[in-house]
This record gives sequence, structure tokens and C-alpha cells, in this order.
Amino acid sequence: MLKTVQLINRETQPNGHSSVPEGLYKQRFAITVDGVRQQASSDELLIDVINRSGVQLPHVCYHPQLGPIQTCDTCMVEINGELVRACATRVSPGLSVTTNSTVASAAQREAFDRILSNHLLYCTVCDNSNGNCTVHNTTKMLGVEHQNIPFQTKPYTVDNTNPFYRYDPNQCILCGRCVEACQNLEVNETLSIDWESPHPRVLWDGGSTIGNSSCVSCGHCVTVCPCNALMETSMLGHAGFLTGLPKPALDGMIELVKGLEPEMGFGTVMRVSEAEEAMRESRIRRTKTVCTYCGVGCSFDVWSKDRHILKIEPFEGPVNGVSTCIKGKFAWDHINSEDRLTKPLIREGGVFREASWEEALSLVARRLNEIKAANGPDSIGLISSSKCTNEESFLMQKLARAVVGTNNIDNCSRYCQSPATTGLFRTVGYGGDSGSFTDIAAAELVIIVGSNTAESHPVLATRIKRAQKLHGLKLVVSDLRENEMARRADVYFHPKPGTDQIWLSAITRYLIDNGFAKIDFIDAHVNGFAEYRKSLDPFTLEFASQRCRLSIDTLKQVAHMIADAKTMCICWAMGVTQHSMGSDTSTAISNLLLVTGNYMRPGTGAYPLRGHNNVQGASDNGSMPNFFPGYQSVENPEIRGRFEEYWQTKLPPKTGLDNHQMVDAIHAGKLKAMYIIGEEMSIVDSNANYVDDAFSKLEFLVIQEIFFGDVCQYADVVLPAAPSLEKDGTFTSSERRIQRLYQVFEPLDGCRPDWQIIRDVANHLGADWKYQHPSEVMAEIAALTPMFAGVTYERLEGYQSLQWPVAPDGSDQPLLYTKDFPFPDGKARFFPTTWNEPPEQPDAEFDLHVNNGRLLEHFHEGNLTYRTAGIAAKTPDTFVEVSPELATERNLTTGSWVQLTSRYGKIRVRAVVTDRVHGKELYVPMNSVENPINRLTSSYTDPVTHTPAFKEVAVKMTVFEEVGESPLPRTNSRWGHPTPQRGVEVERKWRRPDYRLPGPKLFQIQPLRAR
Ligand code: SF4
Ligand code: SF4
Ligand code: SF4
Ligand code: FES
Repeated sequence: MLKTVQLINRETQPNGHSSVPEGLYKQRFAITVDGVRQQASSDELLIDVINRSGVQLPHVCYHPQLGPIQTCDTCMVEINGELVRACATRVSPGLSVTTNSTVASAAQREAFDRILSNHLLYCTVCDNSNGNCTVHNTTKMLGVEHQNIPFQTKPYTVDNTNPFYRYDPNQCILCGRCVEACQNLEVNETLSIDWESPHPRVLWDGGSTIGNSSCVSCGHCVTVCPCNALMETSMLGHAGFLTGLPKPALDGMIELVKGLEPEMGFGTVMRVSEAEEAMRESRIRRTKTVCTYCGVGCSFDVWSKDRHILKIEPFEGPVNGVSTCIKGKFAWDHINSEDRLTKPLIREGGVFREASWEEALSLVARRLNEIKAANGPDSIGLISSSKCTNEESFLMQKLARAVVGTNNIDNCSRYCQSPATTGLFRTVGYGGDSGSFTDIAAAELVIIVGSNTAESHPVLATRIKRAQKLHGLKLVVSDLRENEMARRADVYFHPKPGTDQIWLSAITRYLIDNGFAKIDFIDAHVNGFAEYRKSLDPFTLEFASQRCRLSIDTLKQVAHMIADAKTMCICWAMGVTQHSMGSDTSTAISNLLLVTGNYMRPGTGAYPLRGHNNVQGASDNGSMPNFFPGYQSVENPEIRGRFEEYWQTKLPPKTGLDNHQMVDAIHAGKLKAMYIIGEEMSIVDSNANYVDDAFSKLEFLVIQEIFFGDVCQYADVVLPAAPSLEKDGTFTSSERRIQRLYQVFEPLDGCRPDWQIIRDVANHLGADWKYQHPSEVMAEIAALTPMFAGVTYERLEGYQSLQWPVAPDGSDQPLLYTKDFPFPDGKARFFPTTWNEPPEQPDAEFDLHVNNGRLLEHFHEGNLTYRTAGIAAKTPDTFVEVSPELATERNLTTGSWVQLTSRYGKIRVRAVVTDRVHGKELYVPMNSVENPINRLTSSYTDPVTHTPAFKEVAVKMTVFEEVGESPLPRTNSRWGHPTPQRGVEVERKWRRPDYRLPGPKLFQIQPLRAR
């Protein structure tokens, strides 16, 4: 008889994941399941083959995105006379499996009885009984009629201390999915189970309340919980018909249900609950959307009942699977906020009054026409939004070019991502990530430069953290601040602000000079090597060490890690791009990747991490002064001719003003009117006082927004728009992935989706646009843009997505460069750069450097996220991080009020003393409208892209005597104490004296040896 059972050895292959890249060495063969042949491959778990075959096998703790956890024992099957867990068995040729033998069935049932002893089945009055409760469904599958092991209450109370979810220890079946998700998928390492306790339960930080723990409210644990032990508070009392009863009545109902079981059995209870469940179906809607916050591009179902969001359920998103961060999972209260704009507003006599749509649109058209007639079309500027859809961005640039007649159109990628795009245009040809996030997770080495990835791109960070924890990925982080990724890095270093281009170039030179350059790759795929090497002459390790304040040993160590790694990805963000050297530093990154041959292969490439949900798409779709959609030059007569023919109008032939230049043009009296959609330009552009001053000089300003934000105070007309959940369209994420979002709710009465408003403005200006749905706009984009030729709504149906460029036949490119680079000869280009000292420097008076960035909980200034009460409670205000040494020197403590004064403005904030920052470097998060960081920033820019040097700020600090509360309340996760461990550590459960494998003794396998 074949003895082919392979059990997963958690010591070498945690979670059953092989270190062999997926697809490599995969063997196809047949196995039999209950006598029927099934095809399988060598990397598969038996449980996946069984599930695919349609055979019904109970399994409670297994989740395909978590791998085998082995806590529930309900998946027992018989192989060659032995009982094994199907979830922990890797298939091999010829395997013969029986799922329904007497012994296997008895073992499954016994295991499930133990599960049920931890859980009270009150499904009819449970908010989790919506057809997808694993405990409910397994009870039904096994035909369980009675609870063989009686349920016993545990000596714990429900934990309601987190605003977004609650834990009920009495319903917890101890499957450990939540622990596995928190430890090894999110890798926040908050959760564990005290297996040695007489009454095990899930613990936060080893025994804290949830509210006082390190939990970052990402929701992974809640999403994967197979029952109602962990539930979103937004579900409680809302999902079921009877679940909203007052607590005493609900408890009475639960007792009633419990009382029925001994006499009638669970079958009857289940049937009643399923009738109620079917009624729920009629009023609960599940609508797919794409997250409105960062550029990671998570997608999920929104469960809604009327206008109430019951929960966000991630599962099959191509980027995120079951993952989300606090914003995607919980920050949606802005949708129903009472502060929403619902009527157009017109300024009259210095105050706003409500107006009808017709009056507002007519006024917008009349004033724009008057200003255009008096001053020409280039006296008008338009700003599109990186929060809006691709279709809306396309229409906005079409409005500018084809209706107003100007190329003065831009979006906020100017403030963050344009330098990265420039660096990639110069060297490899496309301004986008060169692979997918799966490539980053599969790389041997990841270098992060100037990115607080765990807070700004949280779900991407989970993939890097997981690969580092489980699969040996090496992580190097360069950042001013010791953020989470820096603390987890294998090598973390802290260069002097503004010097990244130097150390990157010096390491590149060192690699070339010591024979580590990939000459074969360069010869085959890259031009300009000799000239480039010559340009590196000044960049010795000694020069880098002295200018960057880094040790030569550190530089050599990183260089050798790069040389040793077969695959490397470099991720960077605003810590690079928002410098006066942003374009050149981005170029240096790409040069380093070219020298080391880290393009054109899985697990390699350049990854500028896009900030907003659709900052990639806003530029892709032409909201830029120099490009039509698809980065087609407006100055190219042939391209322009194609657009003129399609739109049947003459188009302006010269590059227009970018958003930074528009502000200067207002001051110069050249720009008279602006139309801005979804962009808090008065606080997100640098040198905010200068920008405010400009807006107050405009003759006419139209703002399209969902809330009356800071910039609205300068408006003449405010148009009420609709947020992402109230419209259809597409977003393009950081990895060039185009995804559809579907309308969850009708727009609030009085609001309109942005695409409709832009269409209506165009038509009031004399156009004749007939668009009735964004899909028609996408058809036009595809017709005019070779890069999007094959993009259609049908190909993006549901959770399907496409990563551009998309060929007419619909084939896309997850890996951007496979055969060649998009230059005439198919070769990439080295692009030499030199280093220049940042213009804004500390001096004797302005003696401190201020860095700034996003916070995990808030998106940017918090315009949307502050509307969610739980987030506002956890992170109520901005602050300044001060190093312990500076705090001692200036005699301040956490909570001290300070004033930061730069050469351009001042803000008043409280201090947080933390060793995340060093010496005379401060950090101010962006989450404030009242004290925005941009009151301090200058008008210096990257000379190539005009991206402001937001990260180059010198200030002086005045410390007031007044000491307030800590701006980070005790309930903020940053005060918590995580408890890292390998996962759920099921071996500790198996070591309990009261544990034995289910099933007749004769058939039992030995538990796996504990580490
Ligand atoms: S961090 Fe918090 S919400 Fe996220 S998985 Fe861990 S315990 Fe759950
Ligand atoms: S709380 Fe955790 S251990 Fe308990 S049932 Fe839910 S996922 Fe399983
Ligand atoms: S904010 Fe970013 S990481 Fe968080 S859920 Fe949204 S897309 Fe994902
Ligand atoms: S599903 Fe296999 S042990 Fe739980």
C-alpha cells in the first residue's frame, strides 16, 4: 500500500507556504477522493482539492488565505488507514482519500462537538446568520441535532472597548483564525490565545482590553472570524429582523432558542433561522466597491441596509483578499454625515446662499465665458481630483481642452508623484509600477526609501511584513524617521535630509566598480552605460558617508545585500519625491535597478507608491498640462489631430500651466478663474498662506466638493458632488490596476456624481455631451488611448481587473517590461544625475528640520476620515513628534504646547516625545485643517516637475508653559505592546492534558511535534 501522506511541517514551512515561487516545479497528477479521480498539483493542500471536487467536508479553522491552522480537527479524512487533517496534508501522486468512512465521519463529528461546546447556537437572533456563518453551516452539513458536549459559559465578559468591533469570548470557538490573521497576515502581532489557561480565549497584547491594545483596527480578525465572536459593531442589532431588540428581550429570545434544542433538535432551530435569513436577503445589499483612500487599491463588498453600512467585507479583491486597513474597513461615516453639501451655493454679498442646479450651472457658464472672452482661454485653470474616477478625470481634461480651450489642467500628482513618474519616463519609459505587489512580496530583497509604508499603504505593508516574517524576504529601509517598517527592517539607516540621491548613486558606483553590475542585462537592454558610469565619478562611498552622515560599513553592507539578492524591488514615496531633488532621486533609483538587472523579471522592479486611490488614474487619463490621456503629448500635431478629429474641435497646441504655476499666474494677474474638483488646494499645496492669498485674488472660483472645506471659503460657486459609494466608475491603483466601483447608494438628494456635473458644466458652456453612464466615457478613453485600447466595462465586471497597458484583445501586463522597454530601439536608458544642496536649510534662527506625512488612521488632512467618530476619538488632533534629546534640551514633555515658525508661516500644536525621531528633526502628521503643515512649507520645488519640496522645511520652536493632554489618547494603538509569535501556536493546544485527536484511537496519527 502506498504510504504517501505528507504532513505540513510548520517548522520549515509556516502556514504551508513553500519558499519555492508559485508555479515553479509544479507537478500535475491524479489522486482519488471517495473513489473519484481528481486532478491535483504538487503545491496543493488536500483540502483545496477536496473543496474543488465538490465533496462536502467540514472544515472550520481552515481559510485559503491563511493556510492550515489545525485547531479544529473537523477536516479529518482517512488515508491508508490513518486519520489525517486534510488542511495539513499536501497532495502527492496516487493519494487515495476517504472523507466519509465511518471513522472519518466519527472523527469529524467528535471534533465539531468540541467546537460547539464553546458556542451557543442562537442563529435566529444572531447578526452573523446571513448564509455565511461557518459554524451554522457546518452544524447543518453534519446534521447535528443535539449538543453532545454541553455549552458552558466562560468567566469573561464581552469586550466592547474598540469603537469598530467587539469580542464575545462566550461565542469564541478558539479556531485561531483571528490570531493567524493578526500575527501572520496583517502582522500587527496583537492577538494570541492562552492555550494553557483553564478557559482559553483570544488575548489582545497578552491580556489588555482591545481599546488599550496595539490593535490598529485593520479588521482582518473580524473578517476571517467564522462565527459571531468577533463582529463589526455596525452589524450588531442591524442585520437581523429580531436582533435589534433591547438586550433583556434579546437575552430572553436566546434562552428560548436554547430551551428548544433538547426537545426539537438543532434541525428545527436551523430551519426557523434559515427562514429569517432568507428574509434578510431581501433587504441586505452587497455591492462591490474600491477603496476611496490610498493607492493600494483594495476592493470589497459593502453590505448595506437602506443607507446604513452594515459592514465592509473584503474577500476576493485581486490586491487585498481579506485584507483592509482601518480606513477601508471602517472609515465610511462621511457618506451619511450631516455635514454633506446637498445644495449648490452661490456667494452673494460676501455670504453663501443656496441655489438651484440650473442657476448655479448657468452662473458658472456665464462667468467662465465672460472671463474667457475678456482674457482668453488661458486665463482659466482647471484642477481634477485624484479621488475621482478615471472617467471623471478624462471628462475634466476634455472640458479644459475641447470646451474651454486651454491646457491649464492638472491634478494633485504634481504634489507627490510627478517626480517618480519623471524618473521612470527618463529611464524605462512608462510612469508606473513595473510589476505588481505580488512581485514585491516575492522579492528576495525590498528596499524602502522615504515611505512610511505601514501607515500610508497599510495593506501593501502587510504583504512585505508577512514575506519577511514567513518567507525570508530581507528588508532595507532608509528614512528620517524610525517608522514601523524601519523598526522591522534587517537594515535601517537614517541619511541626512535631502541626500538620498547621493547614497543611491554611491552604492550604484560601488556595485559597478566591484564587478557586481549585471553587464549581460545592460548590454542587452540598456543604453548609455559608459556616460552614466562617468557621471558617478563624484559619488564615492567616502563622499556619500560624509554628505549623508552614514557609515561606509552600512553603505557596503547594503551594497552587498543588493549584490547577493537574485531579485530586488525598490519602493519609494513622498520622502523622496517631495524634495527639490525628487525627480533626480527617483531617476537614481531606477538607474540602480537597471545596473543590477532588476527589471523585466518577477520579483523585481520600481514601485513608486501612489498616495491617493486614483492619483495614478488622474494622470493616466490626461489631467496634466502636457499630456492627453495615456501620456500622449499635447504638442505632438499628429496626436492632437486625432483628438481634434474625434472631438470635432481645434485644441490648444502648447503645454499649459501646472497647478503650482497656476498659483503663480494668479499672483501675476494672468489667471483669473479656476474650477477645482475634489481638491483641498488651499491646504495641500505648499506655502498655504501664499496659495490662500492667490485664491482671494481670483475673479471667479468654482469648487466641486462633498464637504464645505477650507478652499470653499474662496469660492464663488460651490457644487455638491457625490463620494465614491454613490457612483459608478473605475479607479487605477498604484500597480496600474484598473478596477470598477459600483454605486452602493443613490446620491444624497441634491448631490450629483462628478461626471454628471462636469458634463452639465460642459453643456452649459455650449458643448453637446450625451454621456449617460461612465461606461460610455471609458469607451471613448479606449478609442483614443492606445494604452487603454482593450479596457471595457465587461472585462472589468465584478472583481475582474486589468493592469495597463491593455491590448485591444484585452490582454494586460501585470509585469510591465517583459521583452523590451517602450523606447524606439526597445532599450532602457541610463540617465545621469548630479546632486544639489536643498535650497531650504536650517540656520541659527530656524534651527530644526520638519518632516511630515500621513497617519494610518487619517487620509491626508482628514477631510473624510474625521467624520468617523471612532477614528476621531483615537486620533483627534495633529501634533509634532520631538526626540527625547531635544525634549530634554528644550524642557518640554508630551502634551506641551509649542509653536513652530518657519520662514513662511506658523502652527501651534502639542508635542509627542518619541524616539521615532532623532536629534533636531521633527515630524508633523498632515491630519489637520486648522494647523496644516503647509502653513510652514516653502514655494521651492523640484525644478523638473514643480513638485513642492514639502519635506524641506526649517523651523524654530517656541515652547509654551501650558501642558495639555497627550494628543495621542491612551486608546491609540501606538501605546500598545504587541506580542509577536509564530502564529496561533497550535502545538500548545495539543500539549494540553485534556486534548486528544478525535476519532477511534486506533486510527489516530500522532500530533505534529511542537517546536
Ligand atoms: S490589528 Fe486589531 S483588528 Fe487587526 S487583526 Fe489584529 S486585533 Fe484584529
Ligand atoms: S474570535 Fe478568533 S478564535 Fe474566536 S472564533 Fe473568532 S476567529 Fe476563531
Ligand atoms: S486605505 Fe489603502 S490599504 Fe487601506 S483599505 Fe484603502 S486601499 Fe487598502
Ligand atoms: S480545518 Fe483542518 S484542522 Fe481545522
